[in-house]
Amino acid sequence: MRLLVTGGCGFIGSNFVRHVLREHAEDEVLNLDKLTYAGNPENLREVEGDPRYRFQRGDICEEEDVAQAFAWEPEAVLNFAAETHVDRSIASPEAFVRTDVLGTFRLLRAAQERGVRYVQISTDEVYGSIPEGSFREDSPLQPNSPYAASKAGADLLVRSYVMTYGLDAVIVRSSNNYGPYQYPEKVIPLFVTNLLEGRKVPLYGEGKNVRDWLFVEDNCRAIDLVLRRGETGEIYNVGGGQEKSNLALTRSILEIMGMGEECIQYVPDRPGHDLRYSVDCSKIRSLGWRPFTDFEGGLRETVRWYRENEDWWRPIKNGEFRRYYLERYGDI
Ligand code: NAD
Ligand code: DAU
Repeated sequence: MRLLVTGGCGFIGSNFVRHVLREHAEDEVLNLDKLTYAGNPENLREVEGDPRYRFQRGDICEEEDVAQAFAWEPEAVLNFAAETHVDRSIASPEAFVRTDVLGTFRLLRAAQERGVRYVQISTDEVYGSIPEGSFREDSPLQPNSPYAASKAGADLLVRSYVMTYGLDAVIVRSSNNYGPYQYPEKVIPLFVTNLLEGRKVPLYGEGKNVRDWLFVEDNCRAIDLVLRRGETGEIYNVGGGQEKSNLALTRSILEIMGMGEECIQYVPDRPGHDLRYSVDCSKIRSLGWRPFTDFEGGLRETVRWYRENEDWWRPIKNGEFRRYYLERYGDI
């Protein structure tokens, strides 16, 4: 297949591009990425020489950039491009509305005009928080952060393009991903790299919030399956089935790295902090998917990757991230 991947220089997008080129010898990829602070060409250095891979720097909100990408005549588009960090969406929401909503609209319109299959990479955060039980694909959308609300808006636009224009589109809503190449603003790489730098780890509130951790390669297999076998108009939840409180997660990281609880710095909670995410994945399981990576193994592998790839994360932490970190966390 000829695949237009947007946001391929980010965390999940770059893992997905590597996955597709490895697993499908006949596939070709065009990666359309704006290279925001989160987009890093280093993430795809190893496939740059592959003749099946090409890169276009561009913005999904700009009609001309989108038209240029569609002129390559993709058979499907997978929209990973987004502003993705909840804390940044609380401080500066506008970029989230622009990219996550307007950008999705631009891609939907181009896909509809050219009859191209469309895969929206969404999130479990669109459902909001659930104290017990799990959200199904038909649960109401109750997003609580500007990030989650923007992603929910995008999902509703996708639905409207299916219902109104008959677009061949599907949506994948996954839980928290972790693994190699994740930008160190997200909790696991932030905590691991802080510890490697000899810093403490800033844990929000009392560390009681619960996330369901999904190894990124398991998510890439799920997205690949939905791309090829997902039914038009359907939504597929994808979760790791490995719920951990943030305190339990922090303790696991500390244990793997041989460090103690004195490395935890409790800091004020995130406003509107969702207590727990949980999705029912029976629908994608009925397509034959299940996660392969258990949390302990995936976390060890992730810690190993950050230990062995300081050349990847140190320039990020000493670059754009430094000012953001100092403003947010001070000298922790
Ligand atoms: P990321 O922040 O690591 O990367 C985002 C990428 O999108 C970057 O390469 C960036 O340059 C690019 N981008 C941003 N704005 C753009 C624009 N206007 N035009 C073109 N490119 C642009 O993101 P991620 O964590 O890999 O998430 C990828 C997708 O998966 C997002 O849609 C996100 O909402 C969704 N998601 C993420 C998680 C997670 O745990 N990380 C979980 C569920 C869903
Ligand atoms: O659930 C899927 C979502 O997971 C994705 O849609 C988002 O793009 C992705 O960023 C992620 O959102 P979270 O807010 O859950 O991820 P984050 O890594 O920012 O935080 C995970 C948990 O850790 C959350 O409960 C907040 C907490 N946390 C986070 C940071 C950055 C801390 O305690 N300290 C921190 O410094």
